[in-house]
Amino acid sequence: MESYIHYGVGPHTCLGGEASKVALTAMLRVVGRLDNLRRAPGPQGELKKIPRPHGFYSYMREDDTSFFAFPMSWKVHYDGEIPQCSQPVS
Ligand code: HEM
Repeated sequence: MESYIHYGVGPHTCLGGEASKVALTAMLRVVGRLDNLRRAPGPQGELKKIPRPHGFYSYMREDDTSFFAFPMSWKVHYDGEIPQCSQPVS
């Protein structure tokens, strides 16, 4: 997990880090199983990023009109419905 996501260091380390890891894992388990999961066609399906100092990036909208600290593109498509939760989330 630490290879892919950064929650900061020192006294201002992310307060929601542990909750966020649980939520991301649950979300990715559902998304990863979606039928025929694939990148959206064209620029929406591309990750548009600009390198910044110290290994950080800024991310651009798919139409290049603005940028933001978090990814704004690399959207995905899938077929069918999102499956219903079969058991209560605990
Ligand atoms: C993928 C999700 C998340 C990422 C990547 C993330 C990342 C970060 C990072 C890097 C910092 C440190 C900022 C700094 O050094 O100034 C931070 C701070 C913080 N995060 Fe998150 N965060 C996420 C989700 C959340 C969630 C879900 C919550 C609340 C439920 C949350 C609450 C906070 C708070 C309150 C701080 C400020 C802590 C402080 O200044 O003492 N974060 N987060």
